[in-house]
Amino acid sequence: MLLPILHYPDKRLRTKAVPIEKVNDAIRFLIKDMFSTMYNAPGIGLAATQVNHHIRLIVIDTSEDKTQPLCLINPEIIEKDGELEWDEGCLSVPDYYECVTRANHIKVRALNEQGEMFELEAQDILGVCIQHEIDHLDGILFVDHLSKLKQRRLLEKTKKSQK
Ligand code: NI
Repeated sequence: MLLPILHYPDKRLRTKAVPIEKVNDAIRFLIKDMFSTMYNAPGIGLAATQVNHHIRLIVIDTSEDKTQPLCLINPEIIEKDGELEWDEGCLSVPDYYECVTRANHIKVRALNEQGEMFELEAQDILGVCIQHEIDHLDGILFVDHLSKLKQRRLLEKTKKSQK
């Protein structure tokens, strides 16, 4: 099932998501729908926040041929170093791309779809994507990392296109 995606500046995107206490079938159904929604968009990452579920869950697939689905439940960045600039976009901010500075290398700890803990090291596009999606769970959008001027212009542009 495809889920509706919230769009900036929807206030619900500012909700801080709560940890998932039990990885059960309801969560696994949501994960399945989130992957369908992400691939259909198409996008390379989606946080539960973006589909109005305020729990700590993200899905990602940064592979060219869309064969490497990655699901992170209650993800936590436990190490980060270096700096990297990446031109980012977001399914909640359609048709808008800007350069954001992130950590170049991260180590993340999370639960998988079976509720088992794992750790993952990531850099480049995967590392950027994980950092971007975890931001969503904290109510942060990539545009929050831009200058106030750019944010104001984006807001004006968004208001115009919604009229
Ligand atoms: Ni996003």
